[in-house]
Amino acid sequence: MGERSERLDRAVSHAYGLSRSVSQRVIKRGQVSVDGQVIPDPAFKVKGSSSLSLDGDEVGVTEAFTARVYMLNKPEGYVSADKDRNLPTVKGFFSQEVKSDDLHCVGRLDADTTGLLLVTDDGDLNHRLTSPKSGVIKVYEALTRDPIESSYVKAFASGLKHPDEHTRYRPAFLSVTGEKSALVYVTEGRFHEVKRLFECVENEVTQLRRVAIGALRLDDNLDEGEYRLLYDDEIELLFKKPEGYTDPAQNN
Ligand code: URA
Repeated sequence: MGERSERLDRAVSHAYGLSRSVSQRVIKRGQVSVDGQVIPDPAFKVKGSSSLSLDGDEVGVTEAFTARVYMLNKPEGYVSADKDRNLPTVKGFFSQEVKSDDLHCVGRLDADTTGLLLVTDDGDLNHRLTSPKSGVIKVYEALTRDPIESSYVKAFASGLKHPDEHTRYRPAFLSVTGEKSALVYVTEGRFHEVKRLFECVENEVTQLRRVAIGALRLDDNLDEGEYRLLYDDEIELLFKKPEGYTDPAQNN
């Protein structure tokens, strides 16, 4: 495999936590050097082995390429998007140092859903986590309006059909934890999926919190609105089975 190369503006944005437009500005002003030579072209391709310098602050480009994955404990009332006309977005929680135009939410949580949200500038990882094909298991803690009946377990496992939707939901694993509480494990990630599954059985979700993605649980040490970087081994956990998970086919 050839050595990876990257546009200079993207590498500067990663390395120094600047937005793409600010990176382009500092490059055009001649504040950025690559291997000791000023390069005023934002589209210039830099190699992983090069070193970058912004106003004399030098970093290796390989470091600049390292993708970042954050876990955020999302509070209620925030939108999982870059911009919204009515509500604040989760991007506002990130400090100026780490914020960049390349950071995007991994899938979406509804504004009233809380808990584990991943935010990354690794587009490839984002796709692998959100594509229904990859079957990554998302775990939600749901509280409901009416008692949860034991018959729901089989119904969720069979792949429910919502009256407003054309296609059935994929089988989901439901683990009842209380009279009106359950853990729901889904692999599809469709719009309002958990709320709609409960609508299919004529119940209603009153509170929803995502507690895990794959075998990675939300860090208990993060207060609402706090975030931290994931370690490499935690990224691998995202693709593993969560604790307590049973393939819904076995409940069918
Ligand atoms: N399912 C929902 O209904 N809402 C979410 O935010 C996530 C999954």
